[in-house]
Amino acid sequence: MESDIARVLFDEDTIRKRVRELAAQVVSLYADLESGITIVPILSGSIIFLADLIRQMPMRRIRMALLQVSSYRDEASPGEARILMNLTGEVSGRHILIVDDILDSGGTLSRVQGMIREKQPASMKTMVLLRKPGKAPPKIQADFVGFDIEDLFVVGYGLDYAGLYRNYPHIGVLRPEFMKPTL
Ligand code: IMP
Ligand code: MG
Repeated sequence: MESDIARVLFDEDTIRKRVRELAAQVVSLYADLESGITIVPILSGSIIFLADLIRQMPMRRIRMALLQVSSYRDEASPGEARILMNLTGEVSGRHILIVDDILDSGGTLSRVQGMIREKQPASMKTMVLLRKPGKAPPKIQADFVGFDIEDLFVVGYGLDYAGLYRNYPHIGVLRPEFMKPTL
């Protein structure tokens, strides 16, 4: 797998440190909230990030409402954000933290934020591990961002190319020869 990667952008240790900082920001923001929060992770890209993040959040009341969205169809070009699995938990009246792997064109977050807003949560914030600045329209924002990156296609730490490389522990740029629809 290592040989498929052209360049590592963030190694495991760097990611771990940043995830700890993001978790601390969330914990301090919601510290006084008796009711706790409901995390809405966008599957599947956010699974590794989510698992690490919530274990750094020593809060008594964290609930989950999972959502699966697909914006990429086996290729590295954006498509329409499709809901593959609907919310598995309550969001109305709850304090919602949406968690996604990456904010690219903003199509996914636009769809998800709109869908959650309609259900009238008590509040809604968004966290992404990665962001490609300047690509999403200004109205699509994340409140917490792990790292800003150049406009490159990256894999690892949950992010995939054609369903592959989610288990790569670092975040890296895939060699162009491995980004072929025939693979
Ligand atoms: P957006 O809808 O264009 O903002 O893209 C968001 C979704 O596309 C993310 O949740 C990812 O699943 C996927 N995506 C965008 N950029 C990348 C990338 O560089 N590598 C892997 N997946 C990506
Ligand atoms: Mg995704």
